[in-house]
Amino acid sequence: MSQDFLTQLEKHLPQPIRKLITDAGKKACEMGMELYLVGGTVRDLFLGSTNFDLDLVVEGDAIELANELAKDSQAKLTIHPRFGTAKLSFTDFSLDLATARSETYSKPGALPTVRPGTLKDDLFRRDFTINAMAVCLVPQRFGELIDLYRGKDDLEHRLIRILHPNSFTDDATRILRALRYEQRLGFKLEPETESSLRQNIAMLDTISGDRIRHELELISKEKEPERVLRRADELGVLNRLHPSLRGNGWLGEMFSKARQFAQRVSLSVLYLCLFVYRLTKQENDEFISRLNFPKASAQAMCHTLKLKAQLPVLTTPGLKPSDIHQLLRGYAPPAIQTNALATESPVASQRLHFYLSRLRYMRPALNGEDLQRMGIPAGPQIREVLQILHRARLNGEAQTRQDEERLVRIWRQTTSGTKVDTE
Ligand code: CTP
Repeated sequence: MSQDFLTQLEKHLPQPIRKLITDAGKKACEMGMELYLVGGTVRDLFLGSTNFDLDLVVEGDAIELANELAKDSQAKLTIHPRFGTAKLSFTDFSLDLATARSETYSKPGALPTVRPGTLKDDLFRRDFTINAMAVCLVPQRFGELIDLYRGKDDLEHRLIRILHPNSFTDDATRILRALRYEQRLGFKLEPETESSLRQNIAMLDTISGDRIRHELELISKEKEPERVLRRADELGVLNRLHPSLRGNGWLGEMFSKARQFAQRVSLSVLYLCLFVYRLTKQENDEFISRLNFPKASAQAMCHTLKLKAQLPVLTTPGLKPSDIHQLLRGYAPPAIQTNALATESPVASQRLHFYLSRLRYMRPALNGEDLQRMGIPAGPQIREVLQILHRARLNGEAQTRQDEERLVRIWRQTTSGTKVDTE
């Protein structure tokens, strides 16, 4: 077994990281502590994939050990004494050290009560068997696998399995985590786990909006988040977050378009706006309030629906670029991008793309100071002329600085009532 793991370690962790964890194991041993690699890193190493966010559990004092390790390295050390955790950040990877702990839940959905504990306690508090394996790092036992819940078997059989029947009741965020791992890894929920998940969907009501939102953010970082959302829809999980949310084929099509065409917009925000695209304003407001979305995301979501309602205006024949700019300039870019992807109107889509790729960046060459130098007094007139120049730029009527200067001269002569030569 240990040989098995050491081979994976050789293959998937670069030498500097291997040296670091070996040295950390030696140091822990000198200090009379036990040290283990745990969780996602062990899982991913067995699956043959690379994971440079290493989680270490210390039977002893994680902060003391981290302090010692930091002395001999260039790493940046961050400590959280309240949680008994420390992080060593290197340029390309990080080591998280935590003092082994046990967790108990006073009531469903409550944050757990944490006490120092043994490795066994620490593994028992975890979500799924495949995340509850540890590998010993102290010299005498280096590479020894501790697999109390047969996580390795479940990895081999490609199963997501909870450790005990109360798992989803204790912490219903695990419902979303289970679906995320299932779809990411191409695994299946083990039948009893699936049945427990189905029975406990209502437990999502015990979880705060912030924590559910955090899980959705993690889902949005997956390669194909739509797979998780489709599964969540099938199982009735989305319905519990809001009865109108859907994760069906349309969403998948849109997410995949978003990955292809997103222009300087965060993909997670875009996914979110597409997720609410088919909600009514009221449903969207309810969802925002349930998940306590921060201002910027909430604004992008609301703008998405507001703009969707305005799209017929955007298809009016003969709109000039300046009209398009005028219509769209108040909307958050992710809302515009979402509508560009999701609308069924080719004209609206083309105009939204035109705004995003060109119009929103166009500015006059002349600024307020240039205008004053040309004799326009400081004050509202400057603003008026800048707007004229901006419109002219957008509509292609001014393409050079000289074109703009000519327009300024015309404006001056017209406002002062003098006849001008427009050449
Ligand atoms: N964990 C848990 N229950 C949660 C959150 C986390 O039991 N609600 C445990 C899991 O055992 C997990 C570990 O804490 O392996 C670390 O959590 P996280 O960083 O979210 O998971 P990783 O496996 O490290 O990362 P990834 O999501 O990439 O797999």
